[in-house]
Formats: sequence, C-alpha cells, structure tokens
Amino acid sequence: MKKIVLSEEEIDQICKKIAAEMTEKLKDEERIPLVIGVMKGAINFMAGILKYMTRPIFTDYIQITSYFGTQRTNNVRMIKDVSYDCSNRTVIVVEDIVDTGHSMRFLIDHLLRHNAKKVYVCALIDKKVAREVEVPIDFCGYVMKEKQFVAGFGLDYHELERNVPYIYEVDEDDLKRMDGVLEKDHFTFHHY
Ligand code: IMP
Ligand code: MG
Repeated sequence: MKKIVLSEEEIDQICKKIAAEMTEKLKDEERIPLVIGVMKGAINFMAGILKYMTRPIFTDYIQITSYFGTQRTNNVRMIKDVSYDCSNRTVIVVEDIVDTGHSMRFLIDHLLRHNAKKVYVCALIDKKVAREVEVPIDFCGYVMKEKQFVAGFGLDYHELERNVPYIYEVDEDDLKRMDGVLEKDHFTFHHY
C-alpha cells in the first residue's frame, strides 16, 4: 500500500487556499505581480494555483537543478532564467518542496540581485526538518514532519512520477520498481 502524503483532493484544496491568500497579499500592488514557477517540479502546483487566481498576474518559469536521484548535491545551477525583467516588480516564487533551502536561497538572492521589489516564497511542501539555510516561506501547503523522500504531482525520482496525481512516500519497493523501469530504458541520468 502506498503511503499517501497528499491526495489529489487535498492538493486541490491547498491550491485554492493559497490562491486566495496570494490574492489577498497582492491586493495593494500597483504593478502586476510576476508569479514564477520553478521547473520542473512546480509545474503541476503552479497550474493548480493559477486556475484559482482572479487578479491580473504575469507568469514566468525558471529552471534550476541540484538533486541527483534521492540525493541532493550542494551546488545549485541555473538552467533557464526568467524571461521578464522583474525589476521594481513584486515576484512570487512557486516551488514544489523546500528541503535544505539551498535552491530557494539561491533563487531569492538571484531575483533580489535583479532588483525585484519584493520576493515572496510559496511552497507546496515544507520539509522543515531538512533545512540547512534559512528561507522565509510566505505561502505553505503542507509541513512534512520527517525527512522522507516523496514523489508525485511534479516531484520526481530520476524524472519519473511527475505525472502521478497525488504525492506519496517513496519506499524500497518503489525504488526497485523505478530502477527497473529506468534500467530497461537504458536511461542514464546526466545534468545538462
Ligand atoms: P533544496 O535545495 O534542498 O531545498 O531542494 C529543493 C529541490 O530538491 C526541490 O525543488 C525538489 O526539486 C528537490 N527535492 C527535495 N526533496 C525532494 C523529495 O522528497 N522528492 C523529490 N524532490 C525533492
Ligand atoms: Mg523543484
């Protein structure tokens, strides 16, 4: 039996709640805020939130990498930067999960360096117990009490499981199953 962390329905409720919180927080913004999804993990979550947002917003995507399988590597790398100029504009960074915090810290610093007026952070999951650097989370869907590795709804194991509609705790059998699938594909993971 899969250990479900967040069901499809729970995720939808979280998206609705966060969209309302964002709308409220952004109500006095004079300029149109820029909502930035962090690829690829936050694509599903971003789509979930956007459909419930009613105020005018701009959207953009940024891609970084730091993870290798279930193991995080310490250096965060930018693969794709934002395509808008975010200077003097409030931005909201939407992430699937904040783990050690290194990725989010990197993104906040990057956007502030590019003169964003204010950077808000939104995370579907806060893996608080794994935090190594401090990151303020303004909008949070769910706080995880343990350090377990999860997959589904954008979150991957070697690029697999992003299409699963719910989030579950990856166990030994899941790892065996996925490693088998990858091996059959002759998949070799490399950062580009
Ligand atoms: P951080 O830099 O350690 O905070 O890592 C953040 C990134 O690592 C997230 O955006 C995810 O892409 C990935 N990550 C962290 N924990 C998990 C997990 O449990 N499952 C899948 N990806 C994860
Ligand atoms: Mg991610």
